[in-house]
Amino acid sequence: MLATGKSILDKANRGRYAVGAFNINNMEFLQAIINACDNLKSPVIIATSQGAIKYAGMDYLKCMTYTAAENTKVPVCLHLDHGTDMEVIKKCINMGWTSVMIDASHYDLEKNVKLTKKVVSMAHNKNVSVEAELGTIGGKEDQVSARKIIYTDPDKAVEFVDRTGCDSLAVAIGTSHGPNKFAGKAKLNFDVLKEIDRRLKMPLVLHGASGLPKDLVSLAKKWGVKLGNAHGVDDTSIRKAVKHGINKINTDTDLRIAFDAAVRKYLKQNPADFDPRKILAPARDLIQQVVEHRIRVFGSKGKA
Ligand code: G3H
Ligand code: 13P
Ligand code: ZN
Repeated sequence: MLATGKSILDKANRGRYAVGAFNINNMEFLQAIINACDNLKSPVIIATSQGAIKYAGMDYLKCMTYTAAENTKVPVCLHLDHGTDMEVIKKCINMGWTSVMIDASHYDLEKNVKLTKKVVSMAHNKNVSVEAELGTIGGKEDQVSARKIIYTDPDKAVEFVDRTGCDSLAVAIGTSHGPNKFAGKAKLNFDVLKEIDRRLKMPLVLHGASGLPKDLVSLAKKWGVKLGNAHGVDDTSIRKAVKHGINKINTDTDLRIAFDAAVRKYLKQNPADFDPRKILAPARDLIQQVVEHRIRVFGSKGKA
């Protein structure tokens, strides 16, 4: 069942759990995510970056996700992740995405407010939800390169939401995109998160939240993925973040690594095989396992 981001996230906010936003670029990722959500009766946000749109095409991503939504009882939101290009954002709103993110966090507050307000007005007209971002999340964000993490300022967050009317807010509390988030154990600024949650009482979003679980990283390394000293946000930190107000958790890197590990393993073990279905099926299964684990950690199991 297709759903708006707002309907999914407001419910999560009232129930103090988080819903996963999982990035897709192709059919296998989507099927793996939907299978996991069906199994565990969890709502889900299917995230498409501008890069994913460029790779797969808008029509394909939309039709695939609509088909998935029509064939499941769990609420499915089709979301634009890290929208920086106004033309792409406009197209998503007009083509049937049920949520868009305007990522103008790399601009100063005034410009971020101005661009976000513009998107909110276009999107709300069509019953499309809007996620905005304030502060700087580390790592490479699609076409936005942000190296230094600047925590979200709670005062500015209150002013920003008040002035823009966005439906959810991505906060910077120490995470970064990609596989190398921390030198060692995860370090998140829960004081900033608690303060924003206390004052805003609205759905908050955690980007750069992949867990880089040890068993998955070891498997990937064993079959040749070069990951260096990969460290993610461990499950305990994720649970704590959910407890203190995070309602949407973005995951891309973990799924990419699962895909890579499974494909490489299959190809190494079956060098004579060239049937793509045989190569991709184990990857789809492993992505599903990763998503199921995360759904349990986020607390969205049974919330569909
Ligand atoms: O935050 C970014 C997501 O991981 C999407 O990455 O822009 O390479 O598709 P991408
Ligand atoms: P990861 O790189 O930690 O998976 O973060 C993904 C993300 O935030 C997508 O918007
Ligand atoms: Zn992100």
